[in-house]
Amino acid sequence: MLAAGLATLGGVAARAQAPAPAPLPPWRVPDVAALPDDDAGRAVRYGRDLILHTSALIGPDARDPAMRYGGNGLECQNCHLDGGTVRFGLPLVGIWSLYPAFSARTNTTATMADRINNCMQRSMNGRPLPSDSREVAAIEAYFRFLSSDQLDKVAPIGRGAPKLPLPERAADPANGAKVYREVCAACHGAEGAGVRYSALDAAKNQQRYLFPPLWGPDSYNDGAGMSHNIGAAWFVHANMPRGVDFTRPLLSEANAYDVVAFVNGQPRPHYAGLAHDYPDPWIKPADVATPPYLGPFPAQQHELGPWQPIEAWLRLNAPDGHAGNSGANDLESKLERPSAAGQ
Ligand code: HEC
Ligand code: HEC
Repeated sequence: MLAAGLATLGGVAARAQAPAPAPLPPWRVPDVAALPDDDAGRAVRYGRDLILHTSALIGPDARDPAMRYGGNGLECQNCHLDGGTVRFGLPLVGIWSLYPAFSARTNTTATMADRINNCMQRSMNGRPLPSDSREVAAIEAYFRFLSSDQLDKVAPIGRGAPKLPLPERAADPANGAKVYREVCAACHGAEGAGVRYSALDAAKNQQRYLFPPLWGPDSYNDGAGMSHNIGAAWFVHANMPRGVDFTRPLLSEANAYDVVAFVNGQPRPHYAGLAHDYPDPWIKPADVATPPYLGPFPAQQHELGPWQPIEAWLRLNAPDGHAGNSGANDLESKLERPSAAGQ
């Protein structure tokens, strides 16, 4: 007890001596409500509706069967929090001018429509929206509007999720199961199936879930960004349980890695194109647990870590013209760990 107490005090003292973190630049979100009710304003509003009410408008609950592009019960904003406006909550603010952008997953340059459809096919376990559809145009209008206060081609500090150090040990799904029961199950359910609205409330809210599922047939598939443990841990650490934010996380870093290892180890839909992802294996993130693998590391180490040895091996052995992969996912290299985040 005494030793633990002293260690804690030591940590506090060390933190107190560290230079005060520089304040983050302000986070500006343009106000949709201030837009006029003209064609341009209506396109932005429809785009936002599609992010908030995905399952009802372009998902399995759409009235017109031809409009059922999404394949699960999620809304885009279940991950892109509050309509994509939350700093480090996978925001859709400030990303407009960053596209077209290189994607390691396809080894090609992706347009914004491609990027939207990546989430349609993976996070939403569905099929792509036609790139010339009214829906893609509206989502793009919303994103363009959300970027109106941002610098051209500069990623805002707050994009993606805040980077955490990689754990020295493998993530532990057994401890993750315990964390899940204690911290997550109250909302997401003991079986990860979430809490579904009654038919009446779903129709009223134009959403399928009060608390979205984390696994099972109505959740994201095994090709989704959220199915990779490093980025998922950063998102969960900064944003879950819902109500915390990156300045005041509740989970320890170790528990965040452990709980996502448990969640992502549960059954979920399979992405049919999975075997074709990351055609250049030298830039495949260390935590993508899909063969072929370079290097001497077992499949389980790709899934659970420790990931630093894999990243170090890739950097050391990458042929000329390949930087090796320093990115945990498509976003990592562009993220900065905010100095204000919990330690
Ligand atoms: C299950 C969680 C989840 C859902 C639901 C989801 N996404 Fe995503 N999305 C992610 C993750 C994780 C990333 C970033 C990681 C990556 O690049 O793989 C991302 C990235 C994006 C990006 C790029 C962001 C950037 O900073 O460059 C766009 C655009 C996007 N999603 C649009 C959508 C749209 C539109 C929908 C709904 C049709 C949607 N997403 C639904 C998890 C989700
Ligand atoms: C207080 C309720 C609550 C708790 C507790 C909670 N979540 Fe969530 N979680 C939510 C809500 C609500 C959303 C959807 C966000 C939205 O739509 O605003 C969400 C979204 C998510 C998502 C992205 C969407 C999806 O369905 O995949 C993940 C991943 C997630 N939570 C993981 C966790 C984990 C892991 C824990 C435990 C450490 C946890 N959550 C605890 C309420 C909660």
